[in-house]
Amino acid sequence: MPLDVIVLAAGLGKRMRSELPKVLHPLAGRPLLAHVLDAARALAPRRMFVVHGHGAERVRAAFPDAGVDWVLQAKQLGTGHAVLQALPQVASDADVLVLYGDVPLVRPATLRRLVEGARGSVGIVVAELDDPSGYGRIVRDAAQRVARIVEQKDATASELAIREVNSGFFCLSARRLAPWLSKIGNDNAQNEYYLTDLVALAVADAVPVLAVKAEDQWEVAGVNSMQELAVLERVWQGREARRLLEAGVTLADPARIDVRGALECGRDVSIDINCVFEGRVSLGDNVRVGPNCVLKNVSIGAGTEVLAFSHLDDAELGERCRVGPFARLRPGARLAEDVHVGNFVEVKASRLGAGSKANHLSYLGDSEVGSRVNVGAGTITCNYDGAAKHRTVIEDDCFIGSDATLVAPVRIARGSYIGAGSTISKDTPPGQLTVARARQVSIPSWKPPRKKG
Ligand code: UD1
Ligand code: CA
Repeated sequence: MPLDVIVLAAGLGKRMRSELPKVLHPLAGRPLLAHVLDAARALAPRRMFVVHGHGAERVRAAFPDAGVDWVLQAKQLGTGHAVLQALPQVASDADVLVLYGDVPLVRPATLRRLVEGARGSVGIVVAELDDPSGYGRIVRDAAQRVARIVEQKDATASELAIREVNSGFFCLSARRLAPWLSKIGNDNAQNEYYLTDLVALAVADAVPVLAVKAEDQWEVAGVNSMQELAVLERVWQGREARRLLEAGVTLADPARIDVRGALECGRDVSIDINCVFEGRVSLGDNVRVGPNCVLKNVSIGAGTEVLAFSHLDDAELGERCRVGPFARLRPGARLAEDVHVGNFVEVKASRLGAGSKANHLSYLGDSEVGSRVNVGAGTITCNYDGAAKHRTVIEDDCFIGSDATLVAPVRIARGSYIGAGSTISKDTPPGQLTVARARQVSIPSWKPPRKKG
């Protein structure tokens, strides 16, 4: 049977105490809702509906290409009411999987067990929690069959003691869902239409309820507050660190790494403490990353070392480079092999050829730097004239003396030497020393000023 997924994401998330719609709060750098959609997509559903309402435009704008159908729930009258909004679009021959946009750590494998197990019945995902507070509790009958779900706010003292909780995920046929949904009322502590009432309705119709156990308690964990979001962030990062360790990566401290995207590592990669990886990062064999580095959308060749406190954003590094400490590679920085970029050097939209070095205090922007070039300390490419950006070309085997100012557009021809402190605003000839600074003079008749009297 085809599968239609309905993701509930219309709630206000009052307890987040934030202007941002709850499902847009980031976990590992991506909105909560993105994680839920990933899990759903892994099941190859026919269609995915997202019921949204609070902050509707912002939510939609955050997912321009998600391949989902948006369903508006103008007033948030409860999870049952939310599903009802999507129902007219769900095919009557479909299996329906309901997911909650604020329960982000569910694994596709668990959802697969749910969907396969729920054929002919109603399936839910449950877990035992040490602290079940806030969740709907699973009430079982004397024969240990699931009888109903009771929400925290409606539960009696003895029901509150139940530690088995509801994830919010449901799977059942559309054919069954429709009549039950129309029976759900809002006579409860919150005056909401609870989707969870489905369970008691199924039991009343003698339809078996299958409770699939989650692999771990985090799969069912919902985000209702910043506190819960922070806890889940650590859980995610813990899973990520474990994955890296299992793949043979050395982590100085698995509790002090943050991966907000996809980090791929070759063999014998080592990562020191407090590094943040964002977007797509790929580290070749034997790459070493020092402490306190931020790497975003970066690819790094084998044997390259990134030293402490470096910030790399949209950069490509070849093999055996040495970058940092305190280096900044901005978008479009492309380093060939054996390149050195040292402390307080900023590189933007520039290529540096093999074996070139800029070791101290420089800015290289919109530049083409050849191979074996030595860029002296304090050298600046003046790429911006206040209106437009211009390119600087430094050909192979040049030596740029310290504190040179290269006013773009300008070309430093192959093998040029530039005297320290020069301001170069015209192209230089190849293989010559160019000096562009006032000549040094000393005045022999000079006397130091004296105070009178
Ligand atoms: C819900 C479940 C509870 C379960 C818990 C798991 C109900 C009645 N209760 O409680 O049994 O243990 O999730 O996390 O379902 N939403 C809408 N429209 C609405 C109301 C909610 O789209 O009118 C969405 C929210 O955006 C959220 C999800 O549904 O993504 C769950 O709603 P929430 O209010 O957080 O329910 P809980 O009280 O956490
Ligand atoms: Ca919730």
